[in-house]
Amino acid sequence: MSFLDKLVAAVVPPESEATRLEARARARAEAAAGSWFSVVLDHHEQIEVAFEAVRAAGDAGSRRAAQKWLAAVLTGHANAEETVLYPALADAGHKTHAGMAYEEQAMTKIQLALLEKLEPMSQAFIDKLEHIRGAVTHHMYQEESDWFRELQAEVPGRDQAHLAERFQEEMSRYLGSAQTPAASLRV
Ligand SMILES: [Fe+2]
Repeated sequence: MSFLDKLVAAVVPPESEATRLEARARARAEAAAGSWFSVVLDHHEQIEVAFEAVRAAGDAGSRRAAQKWLAAVLTGHANAEETVLYPALADAGHKTHAGMAYEEQAMTKIQLALLEKLEPMSQAFIDKLEHIRGAVTHHMYQEESDWFRELQAEVPGRDQAHLAERFQEEMSRYLGSAQTPAASLRV
């Protein structure tokens, strides 16, 4: 089954919420302050807030605004991972995980573009939003529980700071200084 099929089939991620929370707590404990891994975890929390803001919006205008923020933060984060972290993962000997990570994010970008075509207050929009949220939630779990833990453990210390600097640089390239959502989009 391709990731696209899995994305369509799975509204709910295969792992439980308790398992995800446990993985995030362990990742937080292992991520050094100011490291690329801690910035990734901050982004993942922002992405979760952005998804919920889209779902919770009460009218078409605010839902479109929340959707644009979600697309910006998700695409900025994904592009930074694809430019800096997935190549490092492949270089550390984890080409299969890197390939899976690229594929999952490419399919998410396709689905985000399709979401833009749907009427924001329709059930079809909510259905697609929840499919994307389920797939992204699982993708973030894979990064937090496995892929990025191995990257942090295996990349030599001298290269970790370079990864952190490059990751921030790539995220800024996309989002500039607007790395936190407008207050109106917070939930
Ligand atoms: Fe990520």
